[in-house]
Amino acid sequence: YLQLTLAILKPHVVKSPFVLQKIRDLIIDNNFKIVRSRRTTISREEAELFYKEHKDKFFYNRLLTFMCSGPSDIYILTRHDAIAKWRRMMGPTKVYQAQYNAQDTIRGMFGLSDTRNATHGSDSTESAKREIMIFFKDFNINKWYNNE
Ligand code: CMP
Repeated sequence: YLQLTLAILKPHVVKSPFVLQKIRDLIIDNNFKIVRSRRTTISREEAELFYKEHKDKFFYNRLLTFMCSGPSDIYILTRHDAIAKWRRMMGPTKVYQAQYNAQDTIRGMFGLSDTRNATHGSDSTESAKREIMIFFKDFNINKWYNNE
């Protein structure tokens, strides 16, 4: 069935037209459909909600500062097996793993650091639902799945 995932193209990606286009091409070439799309500078409040599971991590402040530093592209993507497929395409979170072991992934190609790692993707159907509700308040996810 067509699964939903939430993808974020982070601020350093949106600032770079070439990188942005490459990632958009990868999304389309891998048979994702963009269900909803927003370009927005994420607010501190949204970022705190979105990353609440990381609030005790050493990188929390730098993560929030970066995520709120400029516009991000936020997409609801759909495809068969969307969550796992997008995460495979992104590659590992940590930039050294991405660049040494996964050079053909989005983070391997375009990640700049563990924080500026190019993209985000939901890690489960529950996270996808939670994350979609943060950024697309008017999107009725239950209706989407019931109509499938
Ligand atoms: P993301 O998929 O958006 O979810 C959590 C984010 O925290 C992650 O991508 C990175 O941007 C950031 N992050 C994870 N681990 C580290 C780390 N070790 N140092 C700095 N930032 C990190």
